[in-house]
Amino acid sequence: MNCFSDAQRQISPKAYNLIIVCLLGYILVDFVLFHWGPAPECENFALDVAKAHPDLPDGASQQVVNSITGSEEDPLCKTALGHLKFAPEVPIDKAWNQMKWIGAPAYCKVKGHLIESLDPLNNFRRGFALKFVSDVEDKTLVLPWLYGTKVNLNTKQRRVYLDFGANDFRTSVTWFLQMYPCDFTEVHAWEVNPGLFNIPSPGFNEDTNWIPENPHATRVIQTPKVSDWMVQRIKQYSTFVSDDDGKGSVNITRFMKEELKLAEEDTVVVKMDIEGAEWPILQRWLNDPEMAQIIDELFVEIHYKHPSMLDYHWGQFTHTREEATQLMAELRAKGFFVHAWP
Ligand SMILES: *[C@@H]1O[C@H](CO)[C@@H](O)[C@H](O)[C@H]1NC(C)=O
Repeated sequence: MNCFSDAQRQISPKAYNLIIVCLLGYILVDFVLFHWGPAPECENFALDVAKAHPDLPDGASQQVVNSITGSEEDPLCKTALGHLKFAPEVPIDKAWNQMKWIGAPAYCKVKGHLIESLDPLNNFRRGFALKFVSDVEDKTLVLPWLYGTKVNLNTKQRRVYLDFGANDFRTSVTWFLQMYPCDFTEVHAWEVNPGLFNIPSPGFNEDTNWIPENPHATRVIQTPKVSDWMVQRIKQYSTFVSDDDGKGSVNITRFMKEELKLAEEDTVVVKMDIEGAEWPILQRWLNDPEMAQIIDELFVEIHYKHPSMLDYHWGQFTHTREEATQLMAELRAKGFFVHAWP
């Protein structure tokens, strides 16, 4: 037997309507309170940095929040002063205590895009505190800030990668060929030490490994090596990269303009690690607006004298770390999308 009468089981239509109105109202209030307005950019990461380090000085957290927006309207960003506005560095004794060594964005954008804040206290190296060479030379910190991920550099016909101070083939040329989001049509690598840079011998034909709709992807016909087309794109030089033409050295500014005939229409990515010879070249580029137009993105190891770098034989250099920081900021103010190369 049914214990409930029909009258008890029935809910009036008025009650139904009230429930629906309440639910809709809740959704509306929640939307206005929590989802209204533009989506913040990278907000959580920067706020996390501030939260994770409550010992940062007063106002520093706010600086992180300000840096999220990456001001460009600020007239200060036309000058080095704006580009010297750092998000607070993670204290050096805690610099390693994070999952990814990615810095906060700088206060000023470059070419309309966010770029990492300069980090002189860690010698521009997020992993410096650990002191292992592999951490000091870790390059993952630049990955989120690559210009090639913000702008499609593959639409240009000529796409050039220049490596000044290439060292071993696997040091930076391989890194850029694998990690940089551009299919370079030309690679020019300078290395004075003839024993260091060796282009792998070609002779691998990818066509022989290609099978349409291969049902056995793991069944390799020939172990992949370097293919002819890739090696044909790489050119090797054994002169010193310099500001001046001389015996065994080349004026790289002249070479880029007159011999390689690089222009604004080309994609040009430059990596420079030339043991102090970068100073006169970069100082020239500061006063050459053409170079800021030609170079899309610049990675440079700036060498300076500082007690914390003596283990790396940097005692021989004369400029200070403050001068190095100033130079980076000036380059950014002049429109160079420049990163410190570890
Ligand atoms: C290097 O070349 C540039 C561009 O051609 C030129 O302006 C500059 O004077 C040269 N450097 C020196 C030291 O002559």
